[in-house]
Amino acid sequence: MSEFATALIAWQKQSGRHDLPWQNTHDPYAIWVSEIMLQQTQVSAVISYYARFMQRFPDIASLAAADQDSVLQHWSGLGYYSRARNLHKAAQRIVAEHGGVFPQQLEAIVDLPGIGRSTAAAVAAFAFGQRQAILDGNVKRVLARHALIEGWPGLPRVEKQLWALAESLLPAHDIHAYTQGLMDLGATLCTRSKPRCDDCPVRADCGARLHQRTAELPHSKPR
Ligand code: ADE
Repeated sequence: MSEFATALIAWQKQSGRHDLPWQNTHDPYAIWVSEIMLQQTQVSAVISYYARFMQRFPDIASLAAADQDSVLQHWSGLGYYSRARNLHKAAQRIVAEHGGVFPQQLEAIVDLPGIGRSTAAAVAAFAFGQRQAILDGNVKRVLARHALIEGWPGLPRVEKQLWALAESLLPAHDIHAYTQGLMDLGATLCTRSKPRCDDCPVRADCGARLHQRTAELPHSKPR
């Protein structure tokens, strides 16, 4: 197993958060809703909206059967309403095409509206324990710094490199702690500005830290 994964898993188990409302479940629906809310909104802001949403729409069937106004009403405050419309549409697709059961195959998950490859992988890892790589904006930053990946991550060539790296680092076990640890590292320590490298579990072999290049990596969009 990669040194990176071993250190990250140990860190997440010791210092990570284990008490968030969507963490102690393997219900793919509950995890999916949390991942969509967390895409553009911080954990602290999501918590209360999540509780209200899950109380009103506790499962795929109740969300699929609701009318759109009600769904949007329960989303109000979170913004980016296309997320709610896609969530609603996807629930209806799951009922129509998957018998109301959240699909397990990554291809089938990605095929649902509003779910990209990284979100699909997060749900597959958290709900089904699948060994799938995630790569959201925070993770791109962590990996670009650690492995000194040059170039703007929005470039297909660079993104391809990052996906390959993300896959190569996956642990043989503890995919849940690993995936959560990677998200938490990017959100809390390996921040865009003023990263807290001294507290980082993977600082020992981080290229950006070694070469004092955290400020310039990942590269920004060329102009
Ligand atoms: N951002 C996206 N998914 C998250 C998760 N599961 N925990 C914390 N932040 C996240």
